[in-house]
Amino acid sequence: MLSDKTRHSILEMQKRYPDKRSALIPALHLAQAEVGYLPLETQQEVATLFDIDANEVHAVVTFYDMFYEEPVGKHVIHVCKNVSCMLRGADGLLNALCRKLNITAGHTSADGEFTVIASECLAACDRAPMMLVDDTVIGPVQEDDLDAILAEAKKGPGHPCPVDHAEAGHA
Ligand code: FES
Repeated sequence: MLSDKTRHSILEMQKRYPDKRSALIPALHLAQAEVGYLPLETQQEVATLFDIDANEVHAVVTFYDMFYEEPVGKHVIHVCKNVSCMLRGADGLLNALCRKLNITAGHTSADGEFTVIASECLAACDRAPMMLVDDTVIGPVQEDDLDAILAEAKKGPGHPCPVDHAEAGHA
C-alpha cells in the first residue's frame, strides 16, 4: 500500500494539469520509487487515484522500459538494442554483460546488484553502442569497459526516480 505521503504527492501533482491523467507518468515514478517496482496492486492503487481503469495504467507501465513490473536490482542497466547500437555491436555487448553477471537480459544478478534490460533506442545513437547505467548515459562501450562500468555503478546510489515529492509540492 502506498504511503500517505506518496498518495498526497500524486494528488497534488494532478492539480497541475487541466486533465489530471497527464500526471500519470510522474505518479507512477513516485509509486515505483516507494515500492521499488510496480506490482499489479500498486498499479490498481494508482488507477484508483486517477479514477481510471487499472488496464490503462497497466498499458502505460508495460509500454515504458523505465517502469518495472518485477523487482529490480539496486542498479539497472539498460542496454540499447536498436539499430544504430546493433550495427555497432550491441548484441555482443549485451551478451558479454549478461555473461559477466551470470544472467540473461531482463533478470537480476544473484547478489541483487544489477538488473540488465535490453531496451529500444535510448536517444543517444551518436554514442552507439551505448547503455544507460542508472541515470548515466555511457558510450560508445567496448566489452573491455564493462568491469570498470560495473565497479563505478556500484559506488552510486542506485536507479533513480526522475521526480520527487518536492516537485509535487509535498517535500
Ligand atoms: S539506437 Fe541505440 S541509442 Fe539510439
